[in-house]
Amino acid sequence: MSAVGIRIQQLSKQFSHRVKGLVYAVKDISLAVQPGEFLTLLGPSGCGKTTTLRMIAGFERPDVGRVFIGEQDVTDLMANQRNIGFVFQNYALFPHLTVFENVAYGLRVKRMAEVKISEAVREVLHLVGLSGYDRQFPNQLSGGEQQRVALARAIVIRPRVLLFDEPLSNLDAKLRVHMRREIQQLQKQLSITAVYVTHDQEEAMAISDRIVVMNQGSIAQEGTAEDLYRHPASEFVAQFIGRTNLLAARVVGVDAAGVAVEVAGRRLQIGGQSPAVQPGRTVRLVVRPETIDLRGPDAGGGLPGAIVSRMFLGEKVEYHVRVGEDLVQVTSYNPRVTYAAGEAVSLHLPADGIPLLPGEAA
Ligand SMILES: Nc1ncnc2c1ncn2[C@@H]1O[C@H](COP(=O)(O)OP(=O)(O)OP(=O)(O)O)[C@@H](O)[C@H]1O
Ligand SMILES: [Mg+2]
Repeated sequence: MSAVGIRIQQLSKQFSHRVKGLVYAVKDISLAVQPGEFLTLLGPSGCGKTTTLRMIAGFERPDVGRVFIGEQDVTDLMANQRNIGFVFQNYALFPHLTVFENVAYGLRVKRMAEVKISEAVREVLHLVGLSGYDRQFPNQLSGGEQQRVALARAIVIRPRVLLFDEPLSNLDAKLRVHMRREIQQLQKQLSITAVYVTHDQEEAMAISDRIVVMNQGSIAQEGTAEDLYRHPASEFVAQFIGRTNLLAARVVGVDAAGVAVEVAGRRLQIGGQSPAVQPGRTVRLVVRPETIDLRGPDAGGGLPGAIVSRMFLGEKVEYHVRVGEDLVQVTSYNPRVTYAAGEAVSLHLPADGIPLLPGEAA
């Protein structure tokens, strides 16, 4: 079976809130998931991720907009007619059924022959690493094992698409990292289109082909993890994906070589061209902590600063450095020289590839 894509067109969903009245959980969202793609909806709590996923699944009906799976408009179909696999945060296993029966459930509903059910269930239990667990009950399993059963149950029906809502958030940190790799491998092995919801940016970056960042019911930006990290289009995305400094600056020159800005009283050439930067405009530089090079106070060409705090973390040292009015985060990986609190330093920004955002609204 070849993978199918998902298209959602201008979806909106409002809920009634006891105090605020009708509020948008999702507002006018359109996106396309390519066949076989692993797409993640990422955003803070309450931004509409689950509501979007539930509308794709058919658990929630949009007020406006359409959902397509492959070429089929499924907006008016019930969830059980859409042939999707859904993995929930709380696993949602049937406690009174064995692992085997939990996984077999969807096949029984489809009235598959007993021999075939047995074969299919054993195959997926093997796939998720739970061979031999058929007769256990959910309360005899660890959290990670329960989530594997939920995964097996979702894929045994050979769904057209797989949907995940924060499937790993009840697991401890190590297991989360392990399971996310397994989910990703399984998705590629089955080459099945997947939409995954999380509020954990590292998980999203690790697992996804593409990420859709959501904020307050809308799409803030979409792209690969690398696109979003290197070219955030807004302060929200810059802050949400990775750690960042936003340094206030003023554009003092734009020419073929790039943009010259003034930061903390120093002129800096930052290379690259940004749309719509004119001399005189105030902007903010998106400077990642690990791109800043810390040197001694006398090294020319840097911004003068003073170390406020220093945290030694093994392979890296994290600093807070006072530069003018600002506190700047700097991360040095495997540094040969480290600096102590109170020391004067100079900060050297990368000569290229610093994204610019419009200056703070007055
Ligand atoms: N059944 C409902 N009735 C009323 N309001 C709802 C309902 N479901 C969701 N909401 C509201 O819609 C908004 C979006 O909720 P949603 O569950 O989609 O967020 P989320 O991004 O999944 O958040 P989280 O990361 O906390 O799971 C929230 O403000 C929430 O309070
Ligand atoms: Mg949610």
